[in-house]
Amino acid sequence: MKKSLTSFIVPGTFEENRFEKLHNISFESPIAGSIAVADEISKIIQAKQNKNEMCILGLATGSSPISVYKRLIKLHQDEGLSFKNVITFNLDEYFGLEKMDINSYYQFMHDNLFNHIDILPENINIPNGKLNTNQVLNYCKKYEEKIINSGGIDLQLLGIGRTGHIGFNEPGSNVNSQTRIVTLDHLTRFDAAPAFNGIDNVPRKAITMGIKTILSANRIILLAWGTNKSEIIQKAIEGEINSNIPTTYLQNHKNTTVIIDDQAASNLTRIKTPWITGNCNWKNDNIRFRAVHWLCSKTNKSILKLTEEDYNLNGLSELLILEGNYYDLNIKMFNKVQNTITGWPGGKPNASDQKRPERAHPSKKQCIIFSPHPDDDVISMGGTFDRLVSQGHEVHLAYQTSGNIAVSDEEALKYIEVMLDLDSELKSYLLLKKEILSKKKNQIDSISLRKLKTAIRKRESLAASRYLGIPDNQVHFLNLPFYETGKIQKNNPDEKDTLITNDIISRIKPHQIYAAGDLADPHGTHRICLNIIFESLRQLKKESYMKNCWVWLYRGAWQEFEIHEIEMAVPMSPDQVMRKRKAILYHQSQKDVVMFQGNDNREFWLRAEERNRRSAEKYKNLGLADYQAIELFKKYNF
Ligand code: F6R
Repeated sequence: MKKSLTSFIVPGTFEENRFEKLHNISFESPIAGSIAVADEISKIIQAKQNKNEMCILGLATGSSPISVYKRLIKLHQDEGLSFKNVITFNLDEYFGLEKMDINSYYQFMHDNLFNHIDILPENINIPNGKLNTNQVLNYCKKYEEKIINSGGIDLQLLGIGRTGHIGFNEPGSNVNSQTRIVTLDHLTRFDAAPAFNGIDNVPRKAITMGIKTILSANRIILLAWGTNKSEIIQKAIEGEINSNIPTTYLQNHKNTTVIIDDQAASNLTRIKTPWITGNCNWKNDNIRFRAVHWLCSKTNKSILKLTEEDYNLNGLSELLILEGNYYDLNIKMFNKVQNTITGWPGGKPNASDQKRPERAHPSKKQCIIFSPHPDDDVISMGGTFDRLVSQGHEVHLAYQTSGNIAVSDEEALKYIEVMLDLDSELKSYLLLKKEILSKKKNQIDSISLRKLKTAIRKRESLAASRYLGIPDNQVHFLNLPFYETGKIQKNNPDEKDTLITNDIISRIKPHQIYAAGDLADPHGTHRICLNIIFESLRQLKKESYMKNCWVWLYRGAWQEFEIHEIEMAVPMSPDQVMRKRKAILYHQSQKDVVMFQGNDNREFWLRAEERNRRSAEKYKNLGLADYQAIELFKKYNF
């Protein structure tokens, strides 16, 4: 459906198709998308300045707009963009939180934007979360009036919750709703739990602008990044308008653009199954494989059992015309998957490697397994790690962050009390015990407590790596500085992080690098860690030893690759699955009460086993051998 966009249109492409009901543009990264959005905001502000008018912005909090705000700050600092003619109205605030609470949206907005620009304090409007219940109704009415009296919102920025909420308009919200107090959905509170150190501390209520308030904005931009948002984005863009997914109301707004990155776009029909939209680039071999794989699941058949009729009846006749013959296509695709399977992740010595994922030479390889937290290595590729060691490769582990914030106070107290049992006078431990016992909500750990938590994770990792046969001198704790804030929110990575990473790569001169390409972790740490490695690879690319270095991405703790992405599949025997489980269980501080669970309630060893078993099942369903479990890898060409 063609929408006439009356405001500045951000650059990019939007392919019209019969599935999509909301104008959307996907960018290769959140940064690229955020730059486009900030540029549009800045143009609106300047256009208003030129007319001597105030610019009214509706603003959102959450992780999605942070990079837009960073860019706006940069435009202010480097290019003199002034916010003196800007009035802002924030969408929402948790009910019951003081302004100064570190989790209040008041704090968020000041930390992430207002403290760094020249907006006049009197022009900032954020719902007050600290009202008596009997004041709320009148307060909300006044908030609405203030928006209208200011001239109405020129541009409203939105994020989207996994419930499909915009602002805090949860499923069930009425299209005519206005600013009001609402009860938060369980999923919304669950997603906010890490920042509040547990779901019990997340407020149950909030004040939010209503759907009607949002829809009366002249221009709306909704942001969504990452795989976690891909399902809800598909529903919002392709689904029917439905109060169960409040974002779908935006389909009735004529000047809305959804800005997403490729991951958030990945569930849209035109991306996921482009042959259905009738706009498919069959030149890409991977698309052909995806289509065949899709046909297998649709027909419930393995590759070699697909018939000409299956292709024709399911809209893939075009593919058959291109390929000539369904059976040759089946064989080609079967071989493609079969060639990904290897029990020799470091290459099989003295064997032809023409059809194997890895090179046979050198037969002894130096490998670095980069692990964002001190346990992703075993959770995500414990079986492959075990094989690499037993097949004689020199395996180094590089733990990128200390992982200290994921150790609970209870766990730390256990170690402190053991020390005090041995010597009850140990002053430093008495102090740590006191710190934990008198800790206030949201209090950041002292450096000493963080050191203890870092040490706990270090010792757990060493126990696991010793179990898998790695000497301690091949285990490297990088403790990248960007992570060391003591808070969920991390610093921006900078050259210090890259230099540390460059140093380990240049010392080991690896033939193989394994890195976590698992971008769905709840705090974005994996994404940052991966970007740091990519930056190092970029900087070291010209070094002669890098010519022989292959990079393999693994996933596992939070998400898994799709079959069509796989370039190496390493099967595991039942025995290896048990060894992997044991290695994961050495990470005791991450067991039972996992502090940052993400969307998945299961413990890590269980998630890993389930994912690896499911991957094996997928291979079996395509008609390949029936393995107990498989770990999957994708090659990264730098
Ligand atoms: C924030 C807000 C919420 C968030 C949404 C997405 O002011 O109203 O609707 O935009 O929960 O949050 P993130 O961006 O953290 O995924």
